[in-house]
Amino acid sequence: MGCPSHRSPNRLRSSRTMQNVPARERLQLISAEEPPSAGFGDDVAAGLAASPKRLACHWFYDEVGSQLFEEICELPEYYLTRCERSILEERAAEIASLFDSPATLVELGSGSASKTRLLIEAFLAEHRRLVFAPIDISETMLESSARRLLDAYPRLEVRAFAGRYESGLEHFATHQSSPRLTLWLGSSVGNLDRMRAARFLRAVRGGMESDDRLLIGIDLRKDRATLEQAYDDAAGVTARFDLNLLERTNRELDADFDLSGFEHRATWRDDLGRVESHLVSRRDQRVRIEALDLDVDFAAGETIHTENSYKYSHDEIDWLAGASGMERETCWLDADGLYSLNLFAPAPA
Ligand code: AVJ
Repeated sequence: MGCPSHRSPNRLRSSRTMQNVPARERLQLISAEEPPSAGFGDDVAAGLAASPKRLACHWFYDEVGSQLFEEICELPEYYLTRCERSILEERAAEIASLFDSPATLVELGSGSASKTRLLIEAFLAEHRRLVFAPIDISETMLESSARRLLDAYPRLEVRAFAGRYESGLEHFATHQSSPRLTLWLGSSVGNLDRMRAARFLRAVRGGMESDDRLLIGIDLRKDRATLEQAYDDAAGVTARFDLNLLERTNRELDADFDLSGFEHRATWRDDLGRVESHLVSRRDQRVRIEALDLDVDFAAGETIHTENSYKYSHDEIDWLAGASGMERETCWLDADGLYSLNLFAPAPA
């Protein structure tokens, strides 16, 4: 941490005035005006008509699913969250010290609150003021997490963007000055195939200037047993998380999925470098989805592919950075070397 004499008078003055600003005045909520994306019903109809059958993993996160995901993050088998948190506990101060003027912390997704707090605290210790700029599709999630943060940190300002990641990044690229540190934690990049991951990160790169950085958590390739247990835990929480897709279809689309007729399966595909999650039909069965006026037949053993979680080698991370117009500046690992936190910098054009 820098000694106070290194701080400009300007920064000291702004810190003193910020202390007394009520939480609600330190919050700005921006809503994107963009066409709503395809609804759940359309996606279920398309996914269950496809061969092989599939459902997109972003539908996991209704209220029940988001709660189950929180539980997953605390499971002994799901090492990802624990490892990422331990890296941040060890490195947050070092990361904050890489920025020599007050930075804007942009975050993709607002679900990782406890890990984000480690960085917010480190930046506030270093810089006296901080703008936190989360981007999330859910306005209610954004608002509730922003309020908690503003109450906890009197020197924090929150500019939250409700909308698609691309729109939010574009907004902050023009409305927040550099340096900006964009956070994409939790190995969320793992849900995208490698080409889509590179395409998305190229868009992130597009909004970056030379002083900006991307801090991205990426899970590493490892042995099959560790990976398959992380996605099929002994307590069955991940199975409930996966099956919630069918329950959600029952709730929202008036379907009659019999949950005991399906089981969760997680398989490590070493050739593709991903864990695949599937719901497997235990028997021949027909399911009625009333709201779609649709009957869907399942053969015994037939699956619905619900998620991919891609894992990376260090070479693959370097490839991802390069394919995105960036370079990997720093990589931090947890003590067991299971998980990586990476700092990407824009490559010189
Ligand atoms: C939130 C996409 C990072 O793939 O590890 C956890 C979601 N699925 N257990 C992951 C998930 C099953 C998770 N991500």
